[in-house]
Amino acid sequence: MRNFISVNDTNNIDALVEKALRYKADPFSDLQLGANKKIGLLFLNPSLRTRISTQVAAKNLGMETIVFNVDKEGWALEFAEGAIMNGTTVEHIKDAAPVLGSYFDILCIRTFPGLKDRAEDYAETVINQFIKFAGVPVVSLESATLHPLQSLTDIITIKEQLVKPRPKIVLSWAPHIKPLPQCVANSFSQWINAWGEADFVITNPEGYNLSEAYTQNALVTHDQQAALKDADFVYVKNWSSFEDYAAMPGDHTNWMLTNEKLKVSNNAKIMHCLPVRRNVELADELLDGPDSLVSQQGANRVWAAQAVLSEILQNNQ
Ligand code: CP
Repeated sequence: MRNFISVNDTNNIDALVEKALRYKADPFSDLQLGANKKIGLLFLNPSLRTRISTQVAAKNLGMETIVFNVDKEGWALEFAEGAIMNGTTVEHIKDAAPVLGSYFDILCIRTFPGLKDRAEDYAETVINQFIKFAGVPVVSLESATLHPLQSLTDIITIKEQLVKPRPKIVLSWAPHIKPLPQCVANSFSQWINAWGEADFVITNPEGYNLSEAYTQNALVTHDQQAALKDADFVYVKNWSSFEDYAAMPGDHTNWMLTNEKLKVSNNAKIMHCLPVRRNVELADELLDGPDSLVSQQGANRVWAAQAVLSEILQNNQ
């Protein structure tokens, strides 16, 4: 593994999950692996879990971490090739990335889509330019379209909870007050499809179908109640429209998941990547109930990050 941007950067999901679970059982077993190595965490957007869990993971591997909130503390970056920089941007990525790469052994970046121009967001310009110009391995801490560390965490959590070989996993769209990216839903779909060890159903209102590039083998339905039948895991997440890009067509507040809706499930475990808008996306009764896995997911972010950083350190000596 050189970079970690999507599921395509691993050729063995189960091995990566097993590695993460080994670190969960014995966090400091590779404390020397990252000795004298530095990792840079660059944030162009806020974060709680990703930031702290990656810091903890790096420390468990003996690395030193420097966090830089680029959006608040850095120069405004320009990403366009050939830009005449007579506006608000101060420094081109071509100039900033090699300097950052010279400071660190691994560079991790959180970006966010602009949610205005679909082609631009799906080109993943920001993270691809860091890969092109930094000269060191790059890890996505969530990009414009994907959130691979979250998805690896989600599979770790599912595997910990498995009681039968081929669970039914449902990705259920949830209401929200503002347009959110498709990142988490795209990425979860991409990883569950690549994992291939579940019956995967995606349910969302009309107008909210995800890109088929990620949904592939999943059954996509607009009938939420039918989708929830016999579900073992329900992953709840809002996303804005891919088709009418970043729009929020229709009023679908009744898509919020409740205990009543879940009666048809197989005592489904409830998942959400957090942060969650309580009683908008998910009812308190589920988040505070015995079947919620959200805290376990948040905690498992450390082991996902540690497994990925370890792979990169081992493969880029
Ligand atoms: N799930 C997740 O990525 O959380 P943060 O945005 O807090 O990092």
